[in-house]
Amino acid sequence: MSTWIAGLPEQARAVLDPVHYDYYAGGVGDEVVLGENEAAFRRLALLPRVLRGRSERDLSVELPGGRLDLPVLIAPTAFHRLAHPDGELATARAAAAAGTVLVSGVAATVAIGEVVAAARSAAADASVWFQLYPQPDEDVTACLVERAERAGCAALVVTADSPVFGRHRRDAEHGFHDLPAGLAAENMRDLPGAPPGGVRDIEMSPSVSWAHLDRLRELTSLPVWLKGVLHPADAVLAVEHGMAGIVVSNHGGRQSDLAPAAVEALPAVVDAVAGRVPVVLDGGVRSGGDVAVALALGAAAVGVGRPVLWGLAAAGEPGVARVLDVLRDEFDHVLALCGGRDPADLTRDLVVARGTGV
Ligand code: FNR
Repeated sequence: MSTWIAGLPEQARAVLDPVHYDYYAGGVGDEVVLGENEAAFRRLALLPRVLRGRSERDLSVELPGGRLDLPVLIAPTAFHRLAHPDGELATARAAAAAGTVLVSGVAATVAIGEVVAAARSAAADASVWFQLYPQPDEDVTACLVERAERAGCAALVVTADSPVFGRHRRDAEHGFHDLPAGLAAENMRDLPGAPPGGVRDIEMSPSVSWAHLDRLRELTSLPVWLKGVLHPADAVLAVEHGMAGIVVSNHGGRQSDLAPAAVEALPAVVDAVAGRVPVVLDGGVRSGGDVAVALALGAAAVGVGRPVLWGLAAAGEPGVARVLDVLRDEFDHVLALCGGRDPADLTRDLVVARGTGV
């Protein structure tokens, strides 16, 4: 783990309301998966390759929805204004300035149009993606898709791993159910079924199916990513249903506490997809070394969730910028140590399990 990033949760804890700190930090159930996401990276080693004669390095990757200057994007996380008054505006500007993508969530505390404008103020060609949960009322889903398109988002990310809300023990213990006065999920304002000027609740529904996804895809010409895939058979279905990319994710340990560590689920999904669409990994990425391991296992890029929230809480936009900069610098260093020129030089033969040698 990056030393500086490892210290960030404590910096954030010092400034956050303890209830909000626990909302960000916590996971589902006994928080087994939460711990495993990071621990699984510690069980993997990366074999250096020597004398490859590569002096220049290019960290960029091309994905449906934009080119990233580094293979790290900001995963969608809810309610950035709990961390800092600038909220998603700060996150968007930092991502854009770093040349990467913010996936802004439907549960953002700033409406998507303002988020995209903030990103473009930092970099005119910035790409912002919009994450949504397919709503059981498909008119609501359609309105959200339309809002994302009108805002100028470059891709949609549909989160599929939440048929029901995760049971977060820390939130239950604190009785944390509502945002503080003045904060709301602004993308849900004035939707069909909302009170005038009010905000509609985001629903999780086990009734959502592949048929919903097909209809959602017909609403838009934007590339649609599917987030929260762990089973290889679901990855194959995602490709068959026209998804532009797949995010292997256990929601940062916030949905099923029986899920495998995200990085352990990655190789089987990559094999099942067989290069037809790119695969992004999120969950437990805390260093440039973790980024390199995920890429070597077949990820096209990684998403980071909590480290960005910690950076935002500790220092606002510069805090998020520093998180991305540290990950870029560490990843570049590890790539050099592997004799790599670009992310494609990180191949699966470089990854070995620790503790299994003679
Ligand atoms: C999330 N995540 C998430 N995912 C999503 O698709 N929609 C959402 O609204 C949220 N909200 C959310 C809130 C908080 C506080 C956290 C920590 C996470 C999951 C997120 O996109 C990502 O999968 C994980 O955060 C990745 O794990 P790490 O990087 O936090 O370990």
